[in-house]
Amino acid sequence: MFEHLTAQKPDGILMLMQMYREDPREAKVDLGVGVYKDATGNTPVMRAIKAAEQKLWEVQDTKSYVGLAGAPDFNDAMVNLVLGNTVPRSSVNSVATPGGTGAVRQAFELIRMANADARIFVSNPTWPNHLSILDYLGMEKFMYRYFDDETRGVDFDGMIADLKTAKKGDVILLHGCCHNPTGANLTGPQWDEVIKVLNDTGATPMIDIAYQGFGDGLDADAAGTRAVAAAVPECLIAASCSKNFGIYRERTGILMLVANGTDKAIAQGTLNFLNRQNYSFPPDHGARLVTMILNDDALRTDWMAELEEMRTGMLDLRERLAKELEQRSGSNRFGFIAQHRGMFSRLGAAPELVVKMREDSGIYMVGDSRMNIAGLNAETVPVLADAIVKAGV
Ligand code: LMR
Repeated sequence: MFEHLTAQKPDGILMLMQMYREDPREAKVDLGVGVYKDATGNTPVMRAIKAAEQKLWEVQDTKSYVGLAGAPDFNDAMVNLVLGNTVPRSSVNSVATPGGTGAVRQAFELIRMANADARIFVSNPTWPNHLSILDYLGMEKFMYRYFDDETRGVDFDGMIADLKTAKKGDVILLHGCCHNPTGANLTGPQWDEVIKVLNDTGATPMIDIAYQGFGDGLDADAAGTRAVAAAVPECLIAASCSKNFGIYRERTGILMLVANGTDKAIAQGTLNFLNRQNYSFPPDHGARLVTMILNDDALRTDWMAELEEMRTGMLDLRERLAKELEQRSGSNRFGFIAQHRGMFSRLGAAPELVVKMREDSGIYMVGDSRMNIAGLNAETVPVLADAIVKAGV
């Protein structure tokens, strides 16, 4: 039977990773996959993670299963990290998931169970895997305007006009912060307007927050998510620990269903059911480390300090790149790079120029001209600036 299988469309981000690895040139710059890198190009194990792992090795005396919904102290710690004190805990249901992608997948399946006809409104553009999973699940999607190719900011009027066409039973997928792939984010007042549209239309928000702490800070990055969760009757939140704890391969994430009018036993029971169907118990190693860090003053302080170093380092690289481009182009048309937040910026270069930069200068960015700012360092910023100007972006 397997001879009937057909080739799957390759994932652009993962394909680029492979191409970079296979490129024999010494001088090459990897701005592809969304993985944080320090100035030496290494993705470090964070200090607090190392310390928690050592402690865990000493104290952990079983690897038996934890709960189907994950370890309750992990879920509580993550709900606190994402939602702060904005939402009563009685309305929050949650399951630990294998990474943020696991949470996104479970959320889509939950939506399909609740309403097979739901349309999922996704930003244009969005993380390509959102689209791929929705297609795989056979769910209907609607792309709402988001990125303004001229200003490289948010096309907010277009976005609101498109969101207004949603209706009750539809889902509006929003990026909590650090929009992937563009780096263009909503302001506080814009989040308020989105909330008004959500309440006017009755559509259900789903927030994907994968980069909390990489944009303006841990609380600032969660502000939009918190405002939505506090203002609407129900919402879904998919959060990832991959980036802000640097534990990519441990697959650590959480899905929250915040719902006021829903029977809590049914809501939580359905989340548990989905875990059981898809992978049974969620992974625990990364979740345990995160819990130890969040619940220990010293570890938490050190984790926050290192995360802050990473965040401000990326901001510094943004400033440098914008400045180098200003010098070379004699204009401030690249100023948006310093305005964007998070790990990514969409440069706005045509696909053929992205290829040209790769072939001529060894610059690897995703085909839609998404750059991972963390892939830069003081030496490669001028190299990238030269390549951008040389390619005629
Ligand atoms: C990315 O967008 O590069 C990351 O979220 C990694 C991935 O899985 O695509």
